Amino acid sequence: MKIALLGYGRMGKEVERQAYARGHEISAIFDINDSFSPESDVRGAQAVISFVLAEGVLYHIKVAAQLGLPIVEGTTGWYDQLDQLKSIKNLTIIYSPNFSIGVYQFTKLTRYAAQLMGSLPEYDCFLHEFHHVGKADSPSGTAKKLAHVLLENLPHKDKVLYDTSHGVINPATLHVTSTRVGRVPGTHEIGFDSPADEIVLRHVAHGREGFASGAIRAAEWLVGKTGIYTMDDFMHDFN
Ligand SMILES: NC(=O)c1ccc[n+]([C@@H]2O[C@H](COP(=O)([O-])OP(=O)(O)OC[C@H]3O[C@@H](n4cnc5c(N)ncnc54)[C@H](O)[C@@H]3O)[C@@H](O)[C@H]2O)c1
Repeated sequence: MKIALLGYGRMGKEVERQAYARGHEISAIFDINDSFSPESDVRGAQAVISFVLAEGVLYHIKVAAQLGLPIVEGTTGWYDQLDQLKSIKNLTIIYSPNFSIGVYQFTKLTRYAAQLMGSLPEYDCFLHEFHHVGKADSPSGTAKKLAHVLLENLPHKDKVLYDTSHGVINPATLHVTSTRVGRVPGTHEIGFDSPADEIVLRHVAHGREGFASGAIRAAEWLVGKTGIYTMDDFMHDFN
């Protein structure tokens, strides 16, 4: 398959490496100084994979629809505009804050763990994430998704605090915290803590390979479809 890349930063470069490793070709690359527009020459691309910054995302998605190209949107931090996707004609998109198949399964484990622990209010719960210092958004999109899953399944938690707790925290609040340090590709940790013991679930990305190869597999899956999809749709067919 021929792929057009939007964004040639850390993720764009990893997608390029993984795409060639899976037998694909990168036919065109667009970055900040060579922007993606309805006049762009995508050189026969059959799909677009996008890892840019949140500001340009909606415009790029509209351009992909105009060009009749399915788009894999990996950029995070734009989900307050999700409602607008429905009004874009001819759109084929899969979007996810995390294309890692390991993180997808980790999210499922989190749901199952929260369902198990939800009937045991003596187990308090926390979520912490680490990412490299270049990450633009905080908390990560993945942490927000995991927090949502925890809140849905833990009856003794009814809201999330993403900030420092100034004072004693309300026991019904789920504390979600972030550290930005060095080059960490992405670590998410969930703990259930009781007076007797602690259970910890941890996903550690060893690099960007998992995100990139997941995005490429999602592109392979998306070609030939129409509509708006998430990882649930992709993984449903994949499993
Ligand atoms: N979904 C996932 O699995 C996943 C995994 C890792 C990172 N991300 C997200 O992907 C995005 C990119 O991450 P990164 O680490 O590659 O960042 P980066 O800063 O290394 O790269 C971003 C690139 O996009 C370019 N860019 C910015 N605005 C643009 C625009 N309007 N048009 C074209 N190019 C533009 C920049 O010049 C840069 O080369 C972030 O939102 C990050 O949170 C998602």
